[in-house]
Amino acid sequence: MTDAPAVPAPVDRTTQPWWRSAVFYQIYPRSFADSSGDGIGDLPGVRDKLGYLELLGVDALWVCPVMRSPMADGGYDVADPRDIDQLFGGLAAMDELIAAAHSRRIKVTMDLVPNHTSDQHPWFRAALAAAAGSPERERYIFRDGRGLDGAEPPNNWPSIFGGPAWTRVTEPDGTPGQWYLHIFAREQPDLNWDNDDVAADFEQTMRFWLDRGVDGFRLDVAHGMAKPDGLPDLPDLPEVASALLAHDDDDVRFNNPAVHEIHRRIRKLVDEYPDAVTIGEVWVNDNTRFGEYVRADELHLAFNFRLAEARFSAEDVRDAIDNSLAAVGPVFASPTWTLSNHDIEREVTRYGGGAVGVARARAMILLELALPGAVFIYNGAELGLPDVDDLPDQVLQDPVWERSGHTERGRDGCRVPVPWEGTAPPFGFTTGSSWLPIPPDWAGLTVEAQLEELGSTLSLYRMAIELRALRPDFGGDRIEWYGSPPGCLAFRRPGGLVCVLNASAAPIPLPPGDVLLASAPPEGGRLPPNAAAWLV
Ligand code: GLC
Repeated sequence: MTDAPAVPAPVDRTTQPWWRSAVFYQIYPRSFADSSGDGIGDLPGVRDKLGYLELLGVDALWVCPVMRSPMADGGYDVADPRDIDQLFGGLAAMDELIAAAHSRRIKVTMDLVPNHTSDQHPWFRAALAAAAGSPERERYIFRDGRGLDGAEPPNNWPSIFGGPAWTRVTEPDGTPGQWYLHIFAREQPDLNWDNDDVAADFEQTMRFWLDRGVDGFRLDVAHGMAKPDGLPDLPDLPEVASALLAHDDDDVRFNNPAVHEIHRRIRKLVDEYPDAVTIGEVWVNDNTRFGEYVRADELHLAFNFRLAEARFSAEDVRDAIDNSLAAVGPVFASPTWTLSNHDIEREVTRYGGGAVGVARARAMILLELALPGAVFIYNGAELGLPDVDDLPDQVLQDPVWERSGHTERGRDGCRVPVPWEGTAPPFGFTTGSSWLPIPPDWAGLTVEAQLEELGSTLSLYRMAIELRALRPDFGGDRIEWYGSPPGCLAFRRPGGLVCVLNASAAPIPLPPGDVLLASAPPEGGRLPPNAAAWLV
């Protein structure tokens, strides 16, 4: 027997596709870095920060929509899916970003929106100009209204953003006319995926970007494109408007079995580009139904939101892990882990805010990076940013705010721009005035303030991502649960890594082994509350 080598051999990741265990970094471009001084982040801004992203150690970017858009929903209302909005720097800026990222061995995935277009898309404008029953209208979901003179919406579906999911149009001759479906804002008409033009155009869009070198796509509302025959009423109406897509699995607006045929068609095309990945936004709870989306001939990966929905409790976190693994195991897909994104409250805030919120968020990123599978980090999480809950009403831009009649503030609180440097807003994010104000008390959270600081959240992320990429202890697709004190959890990877999370109120003794990394320093062999540690 020989002694174990002092420097472990790097994990051999050549035998499996890159995305199976990649660390993805989600960029919300409006809020990442502004190069033009207009107060809104852009693609040259992202390119300028690639050195930072390389230092952070991420494998791939997921860039939220940057295609041409009137920005009724931050770019999720696409008017031309095969062009980049001038706001973000135009098409040349995307080409430059792809090339510059690739030269640093960072992959680039784009966000595509198959479920709907903008109401400014030429197709929708043509549909409005054409008559009921025309081929132009067939690409969307137009229906006659119910009731006297068709004055009632065709069914009772609410929009996810509040208000009805239908808007009545005025016909070209000036008379009140048909209604069109929009599961989201009225500026986001749903496409009719039973229409061949729709699938063909989407294929053209995918090829357009794949041929330009992108490494894959995040597919927006990937469980929403197929609609049920006859568009039946919802038996139970959700009580409040919610931007969260946390509807139940039987909500007929989503998760229609016919959606799988669409994914198979998409996959067939993407398979022509062997390294490319598709990642679906799939708000489906039931493990079997979730797993159907990541069968071998459908999506490569799907976001599982259980961890983002779990409270900071050992029981909830363990349950989220078990279910996420159970959902993908039978179809041999890779699990995904995500704590936050541009639609949900940031983890620091969700876990209670303040020092406790930060401590828990630090613990949870260690837990997440210890798990097998792909990890998604939302820009700013690595700085321990909280939500900004006191944005002034007049700056709110999320359509949820208007559509809910000012009862739901929406998602702007988690979209406040990233603070880069300096001691006062806008902290180097822009030379102008940032589209959402950045709180002055983020001075201690800037990249500059944290970069050289060993104990910072940014340093924790950097060390954790690096260890995960290099150490063989992270090998193997499974986890094995260890016994642990009440309120805590511990698991082991086949490669040897042990991860311990203390969600209890008291310090706990650590299991035997050397501490590789901890989110808070252990004292006398004990891990403090609201902390996690890696041992080997
Ligand atoms: C997805 C996006 C969200 C957007 C919605 C409509 O849920 O993540 O930001 O508002 O789809 O496109």
